[in-house]
Amino acid sequence: MMISLDSNKSFQDNYKILIGAVLPRPIAVISTLNLDGSNNLAPFSFFTAVSAMPMILAFCPLIRTSTSSKKDTVINIEREKEFVINIGSFEHAALINTCSEELPYGTDEFKHSGLTALDSDIIKSKRVKEFKIHFECKLRDILSYGETIGSGRLITGEVVKVHISEDIYEKGKINTQKLAAIGRGAGNDWFKTSEIFELERKMKAQIQK
Ligand SMILES: Cc1cc2nc3c(=O)[nH]c(=O)nc-3n(C[C@H](O)[C@H](O)[C@H](O)COP(=O)(O)O)c2cc1C
Repeated sequence: MMISLDSNKSFQDNYKILIGAVLPRPIAVISTLNLDGSNNLAPFSFFTAVSAMPMILAFCPLIRTSTSSKKDTVINIEREKEFVINIGSFEHAALINTCSEELPYGTDEFKHSGLTALDSDIIKSKRVKEFKIHFECKLRDILSYGETIGSGRLITGEVVKVHISEDIYEKGKINTQKLAAIGRGAGNDWFKTSEIFELERKMKAQIQK
């Protein structure tokens, strides 16, 4: 027997279902510039790839539960029209968690977390030196689904430059084991990607790993 729920009851109920059903979720750590030129960092697991050519990624910040306001990442992207998506590894999990702390606007989150800011090639937002993949992105779209707690936005960015650590890059491909990507689950759950299983591809024309 299936339990059937209406989705118009409460943000909390819907949210619990989403984070328990859509998983494991990859994590984008988004770097943006604050108004005073300091750097904001924040992780987002409502995150996915959208398009390969043009190269487009998307993530979804919700209206902040504690204040009913837009998150600092959104405020910065609306103004600067650019951001960096940094991909961390298992060794960075605790630091990524630190970047999710709610701090007063204008706090430099590289300094707060102890991560190192690296200049980007094309945009002004900084990259996270310790992380192995960086996507420099220019804003493409912001679709808004409301201004109340739990309402999301879909933010897409066109990648104008990709940086990949030579430690994980092999002949145009990224070595999954060496990246040691992590994912987010429900509540305090996170995922490692160390346990991988393979299935033979059915689409022979598909690009191989
Ligand atoms: C692993 C992880 C994933 C997260 N994913 C999201 C997300 O997809 N959407 C969201 O609105 N908040 C997400 N959060 C919470 C934000 O990171 C948090 O609200 C942060 O303070 C936002 O920072 P900002 O105000 O500097 O933008 C996540 C937190 C963690 C630790």
